[in-house]
Amino acid sequence: MSLIKKADFIVSKKDYGKICPSFAKEFTAKGKVKKATLQASAFGVYNAYVNGNRVGDYILAPGWTAYQSRLQYQTYDITGLIAEKNIIEINLGWGWAVNNLAHFGKIPWKPHANQPVLIAAVEIEYENGDVDTILTDNSWKVSMSELLMSQIYDGEIVDGRIIGERNWEEVKIFPYPRDILIEQEGEIIREIECLDAKKIITTPKGETVIDFGQEITGYIEFTPMGKYGDIIEIDHAEVLDAKGNFYTENLRSAKAQITYICGEENKKYKPNHTFFGFRYIRLTKWSGEVDKANFKAISVHSDMKRTGYFECSDPMVNQLYSNVIWGQRDNFLDVPTDCPQRDERLGWTGDANVFFKTAAINYDVERFFKKWLRDLRAEQFYNGAVPCVIPNVLRDNPTDDFFSSSYWGDASCVIPWEMYLAYGDKEFLKDQYFSMQRYVDYMRNSGECEFLHDDFYHYSDWLALDGVYDCEENDIDKDYKIILATGAYAGSVDILIKAGKVLGVDVSEYEKLHENIVKTYNERFIIDGDVKYKTQTMYVVAIHFGLVKDKALYAKRLADLIKANGNRLTTGFVGTAYLMQTLTENGYTDVAYSLLLQQEFPSWLFSVRMGATTIWEHWDSIREDGTMWSTEMNSFNHYAYGAVASWMYSTMAGINYDESNPAYKHIIIKPEPDKRIGWVKASLDSRSGLIKSAWKYDGDKVTYNISIPDGATATIILGDDTYEVSGGDYEYTK
Ligand code: BGC
Repeated sequence: MSLIKKADFIVSKKDYGKICPSFAKEFTAKGKVKKATLQASAFGVYNAYVNGNRVGDYILAPGWTAYQSRLQYQTYDITGLIAEKNIIEINLGWGWAVNNLAHFGKIPWKPHANQPVLIAAVEIEYENGDVDTILTDNSWKVSMSELLMSQIYDGEIVDGRIIGERNWEEVKIFPYPRDILIEQEGEIIREIECLDAKKIITTPKGETVIDFGQEITGYIEFTPMGKYGDIIEIDHAEVLDAKGNFYTENLRSAKAQITYICGEENKKYKPNHTFFGFRYIRLTKWSGEVDKANFKAISVHSDMKRTGYFECSDPMVNQLYSNVIWGQRDNFLDVPTDCPQRDERLGWTGDANVFFKTAAINYDVERFFKKWLRDLRAEQFYNGAVPCVIPNVLRDNPTDDFFSSSYWGDASCVIPWEMYLAYGDKEFLKDQYFSMQRYVDYMRNSGECEFLHDDFYHYSDWLALDGVYDCEENDIDKDYKIILATGAYAGSVDILIKAGKVLGVDVSEYEKLHENIVKTYNERFIIDGDVKYKTQTMYVVAIHFGLVKDKALYAKRLADLIKANGNRLTTGFVGTAYLMQTLTENGYTDVAYSLLLQQEFPSWLFSVRMGATTIWEHWDSIREDGTMWSTEMNSFNHYAYGAVASWMYSTMAGINYDESNPAYKHIIIKPEPDKRIGWVKASLDSRSGLIKSAWKYDGDKVTYNISIPDGATATIILGDDTYEVSGGDYEYTK
């Protein structure tokens, strides 16, 4: 048994309110230390120090999980930090566990504790073979610290006058089952990159603003300037408004602010237990000169290995790709969040569902998503429904909310399957299979009949531009809702069948079910030989999820609809995810390129033209005239529409897995060049090795350069020509 499971959870006896507690224990080493380790975890987030030295480089440990049943602990080697007399001190912020996360005031989540709670264990192994253990118990002490507040949404308040001052007081045991403790499963959250300040701006309002040139998730580092007792206040924002003023309304109730009270001597400072989504900071209160060199922005996220690269001749498309990469970096902070800035930052399942394929090419996300899917399993309701956010902080009490929204809940089927295709771990697919099946059975039981799915709650084609079907669940025509939900249902049943076949499960019942879903859809919703609602997403859903037989006919209608709209899309979260692939698979890659290269609203490049450095939540988060979509729900860092990058890899560069031989053991290379782009270069460091694909126009001819890793095989499809190859480098001119 892991040592930490023998320790007690401890909490301050006194309620410190918002002040961050520091827990401590002194101990003496009894001889020459061979090895010393610390294990720690918390309800809240912690930084540990041994004799004043920070332990490890984990930011926001212990990370975010479904705390009621899964709490990660971390193990650190502290051998080099141990002296004869020692003090271990662990400072705690509120993090995700103590905070009342989410702005949904009507149904506040019950935090696990109203103050941060610590559990820790130290093991010291001496050279003479003796072993000492130090476990959190009521002999530990606690003190208020200089961190007067540190919370995810609101930021941090630091009193520089009392740094390091401690007034040790009593702790008490916090009775909580220790079997929720699990070893670190996800990727470690780290400081990944440091950005220089690009320029200092004096806005029309006369405020001093610093631009870092890139929206990031993380925090700034600076040396506070000021006399003893001076107050520094720094705010964070993603964008400037139409007039060039600092814009924070879209953060809603999140204060996203640093307050620093200067002490005698001010050392370099960066926040301890919080993060911000920002490109700009405002020196709201600052004494003295402003030196650009004093400010750095530190990008913080789960430390995933970068695996995908893409570049082409069009600088706007390259900027879009960069925005997708940053969108992922900024929102993969232990869980896949919708956005990093406003009072939300939650693990919305629908966003993760539509972006997964792209995510798994950009970065190695296997470890990251295995952890999150285990949380999904832990949070899945008794009836198989999957909550809309994982971890489920929107729940009020365990008897509420036993429903999913389609496409959101379908993350439970799509992601494990796509994980299998990208990484090939059959065992993990097996672990998830029951959860997938339970979700499908939930859908089966919640429509007007077994073959149609309907949700009580439904995000529909979230944020689509097709007239009335744009937003809140109540606005949606019932049939529209059922059709969309049934598309997702058919998709997840299909995945369950495929996964079942891989695992050797009898899926004949689900094959029959799938047939009946398709049949019922056609009977009910194909009217006069066409879809009931003639929107882009309706055609995409009908084709992509195999609901209609004559795909060519419906694809032509889709292409015509797009052309009639001036080569502009109208799709929301759902339609956008499959739009480009649907066009390509049905012979309309030229239309897909037109959508990609469109610079007028609504389009991907519109946001690029407007200066975006990440993917926006809305097609018109900022309008042509600089005004904002709304103050209510307007994030400039929402990765969902970044799903287009999977098409850039799979169609522009042509790199694809083969479903029948996953993890890129067999690769399908099928680039589809378009003259509007002069060249493309991409690579993927897959589980089977490094795959490269590039092409370049020279007049009417295209030269392709393709590398297949040793041990893998590939089918290379260039127009009408097909080549079966094994590992090696290949060049073709056509
Ligand atoms: C989030 C979305 C999420 C949605 C549910 C929003 O507030 O930011 O990204 O998927 O709610 O529709």
